Amino acid sequence: MKVDDAPHNLEAYDTFYRTFQWKSAQKELDWFDGKLNAAYNAVDRHAHTWRKNKIALYWEDETGNEKKYTFEELSFASNKIGNILKDFGVARGDRVFLFLPRIPELFFSFLGILKIGAIAGTLFSAFQEQALLDRLGNSEAAVVMTTKELKPRIDKIRKKLPALKHIIVVDAESFITSFAHAPEELHISHMDPDDYAFMLYTSGTTGKPKGVVHSHRAILQQHMTARWVLDLKDDDTYWCTADPGWVTGIAYEILGNWSLGITSLVYAGRFDPAKWYELLAKYRVTVWYTAPTAIRMLMAADTELVKKYDLSALRHMCSVGEPLNPEAIRWAIKTFDKPFHDTWWQTETGAICIANYPSMNIKIGSMGKPIPGVTAAIVDDSGTELGPNQEGNIALSPGWPSMMHTIWKRPHKYKSYFTRHWYISGDRGMQDKDGYFWFIGRADDVIKTSGERVGPFEVESALVSHPWVIEAGVIGKPDPMRGEIIKAFVVLKNEQRKSITDKKSEEALKDELSLYVKKHLAGHAYPREVEFIDKLPKTRSGKIMRRILKAKEMGLPVGDTSTLEEY
Ligand code: WT7
Repeated sequence: MKVDDAPHNLEAYDTFYRTFQWKSAQKELDWFDGKLNAAYNAVDRHAHTWRKNKIALYWEDETGNEKKYTFEELSFASNKIGNILKDFGVARGDRVFLFLPRIPELFFSFLGILKIGAIAGTLFSAFQEQALLDRLGNSEAAVVMTTKELKPRIDKIRKKLPALKHIIVVDAESFITSFAHAPEELHISHMDPDDYAFMLYTSGTTGKPKGVVHSHRAILQQHMTARWVLDLKDDDTYWCTADPGWVTGIAYEILGNWSLGITSLVYAGRFDPAKWYELLAKYRVTVWYTAPTAIRMLMAADTELVKKYDLSALRHMCSVGEPLNPEAIRWAIKTFDKPFHDTWWQTETGAICIANYPSMNIKIGSMGKPIPGVTAAIVDDSGTELGPNQEGNIALSPGWPSMMHTIWKRPHKYKSYFTRHWYISGDRGMQDKDGYFWFIGRADDVIKTSGERVGPFEVESALVSHPWVIEAGVIGKPDPMRGEIIKAFVVLKNEQRKSITDKKSEEALKDELSLYVKKHLAGHAYPREVEFIDKLPKTRSGKIMRRILKAKEMGLPVGDTSTLEEY
């Protein structure tokens, strides 16, 4: 059986799952004597085939600017960036971070960095100085590429970044000129499959964000899953709504989709139901990869709205990032005559690992089954496999191609993901007797708000840096639209506490704290709700017990409090 047939024939797919070896898929990529380059595979190899003049990227922004680039143009543009970076002295292994909105230069630059063997890092454009400092500081980035508008946020922290040699402003005259003159030809570095290609900071329960490092080899799984799960084919027009500041935007808006030579749409604007439907119709999008919060927001929009657009081109839809509610799937069947296919993976897994692939009978509410080449299980805390319908940790057998290689400068953190012979994801779930996986929740305090991962510690630290605050405990509060919202419990200094005389003065204090986090940490990671309390529940060793804050918030029993200081 051929790899391409598998996703469309359930029985064949199950057999294929059992016999598939990653080795056999390696020939799907172009190699240079056992070496490869993910960016070459994403773009350049197509520029040497009939796809040379095929559109790789349709781009549009909120003000109606439109651009399009063929695979050859994408190849040249990224070569130019590679050459410019070399002129700046960027060498293999150097970290080059992209603090850019979703403009074409972000895509050229990401590819250009990989082509010269440097390591690309992406930074969500909502990040403010604290989030930027944590990431650029830990990674010791040598170069940041940004825009005139975003640069001041880097300037503010530059003194604290001794490793940062250059800030390249891609919309500055000088850059535009050097881009115009840079050579279109570039020697592409032949990388060992395990050489680092890109890194992304992501949050856990404790400590600062962790630098999850991925190698060039990751493209193998991104490529295969873009085919098996997203079902991308040569005549598709594909739209992934993610931002490359997060892993989905890297794996399925740059690497996996383009390595298949797929025409892809990027919309550099905010969410807006009418605009989204308009884009689906205008570009005749056939495959759409989006997230539950966006789907719920579309559901909440006027039901007449969708009827105004011709969405008949749509043939396959997938979702990722947070639990996809059954109502959302039912709504999609009613509205688009097809369901969303849920997919599960993480920044650390580098590519889709569990999914509802096209031929599967979707069990509404389930995330599907592991993809070929991935072994998943539910295990207890000691790494022992559990039977069907038992709740435990969602775990994977290490060694899938896109598995993270390390946590930057924190080898112990990396090791802490593994128990016996399992990678422990941090998610709780169960597997039914048919092998389908069901998501239950996070095992830790990580917050998922609008599909974005936020560490409570980062938000707590930001709050505590405000002069009015003694301490803060932060949780994800369930929210029908955003999955969770960030809620902060704050202990105020006496003086401020006394200044609260009525509802109005209390609200003003809350607003100030929310805004402070928004301005200093990140535009998306601020508490939408603040509550003032006298004391935080803590363990005897002084750790904030967020579990108790959450239980209280939800009116649930607080559970085992034997380690509590006093409450
Ligand atoms: C966490 C990973 C990898 C793409 C973007 C997220 C949650 C992810 C699902 C799903 C329920 C999901 C998990 C996971 N998550 N997919 N289909 N159903 N939850 O990457 O930011 O690293 O977040 O997102 O909790 O651990 P990420």
